[in-house]
Amino acid sequence: MADAPEVDFQVTAAQLDTGLRGVPVGTCWTSLVDPDEGVSYVGYPIADLAYLPPESVIYLLYNKDLPNEQQLQEFRQELAGRSAVDPELLDLIAQLPRSGHPMEWFCAAIQLLGMTTKTGDYKEDALNLVARIPEVLAAVFRIREGWGALIASEPERGYVENFVYMLGMPGIDPEKQLKLLRTYYNLHMDHGGGNLSTFTGKAVASGLADVYQSMSSAMNGLAGPRHGRATQDCFEMVQEIGSSDPDEVEKRIRARLDSGGLVFGFGHAVLRSEDPRAKVEFDLGEEIAPDDEYFRIVKAMRSVVPKVLSENAKIQNPYPNVDFVSGTLLRAVGFTDMEYYTTLFGWSRVAGIGAQIADERLNFRSGRGVAIYRPKYIAVNQDQRSV
Ligand code: MLT
Repeated sequence: MADAPEVDFQVTAAQLDTGLRGVPVGTCWTSLVDPDEGVSYVGYPIADLAYLPPESVIYLLYNKDLPNEQQLQEFRQELAGRSAVDPELLDLIAQLPRSGHPMEWFCAAIQLLGMTTKTGDYKEDALNLVARIPEVLAAVFRIREGWGALIASEPERGYVENFVYMLGMPGIDPEKQLKLLRTYYNLHMDHGGGNLSTFTGKAVASGLADVYQSMSSAMNGLAGPRHGRATQDCFEMVQEIGSSDPDEVEKRIRARLDSGGLVFGFGHAVLRSEDPRAKVEFDLGEEIAPDDEYFRIVKAMRSVVPKVLSENAKIQNPYPNVDFVSGTLLRAVGFTDMEYYTTLFGWSRVAGIGAQIADERLNFRSGRGVAIYRPKYIAVNQDQRSV
């Protein structure tokens, strides 16, 4: 692939201290976020990828092309061959403090994987991590929730199939859980180069930290309420709204805004229309949870909230993003503890961030890789500071 195109861009004073909002800093080969169309992976709109086998979509991010049937079968075997997790590592995870948040466990587990299995090759390590993370995440759930002995991995079942099997969540319909998770996984894998976790992962890797160190940094970025933990905030809000009657929803949303409350899950840093990932989730919800009380609430909110938010001229995008619906669907297939929502997001995002790290380290600038991140900060005197 060609090196970076010429870009004519002038940073204005108004863009300083805005978190690099809109400032081009690099190129991305895995995905593009179009403000109106939403995300596409390697040129394929996300809606076209949503229901493919997750292994095909992982393959796409790492090979920049969808696999044919034979390549898919070979890649499935490759992932299965990479997936073995040392039981001693699972014992170490079991020693982590119960007071830690599941995301803290997830990040710690990634670091532990690195200490025990890293090869130092960015693509190898990224793919190994993708292959091993389902067993690690299933262990995090089972150990913390006390669901009994860990369930031995059977990777030949399929990537997400094996996760659902190893999770062994009691009292649920595994077929329904699988149906949601396959699509949920595809939808969350990548979202351009500049979202906080991806940017962080690549920045840390630019100092030549290994994939595991870079990924645990990325995942700590994802853990924040303004990023991956938004799914949890959204579902809490849905519970608080607590009605699927449109008039009642409107009353409660207005009351929430009047009392200074936030409305989560509408709008997005880049998108300017409804997130196509949210649309896929709404469609999927009609299949797997049409009568779920919370799914009825999110549907009512989808029709009411944009109208209310549009009254504020400052709001550029009043439409739902993917986080708005995810929690409701996760709960409908058995994930009742919201604290785990970001770990499921993280599991999926590991694939995209790993692919972007491998690209930046191994392919960019004709194989020399991106230089160590070193943006410029402008020093200001005391009398220039705004307070
Ligand atoms: C997302 O998936 O929406 C992101 O990670 C957030 C972003 O793009 O900034």
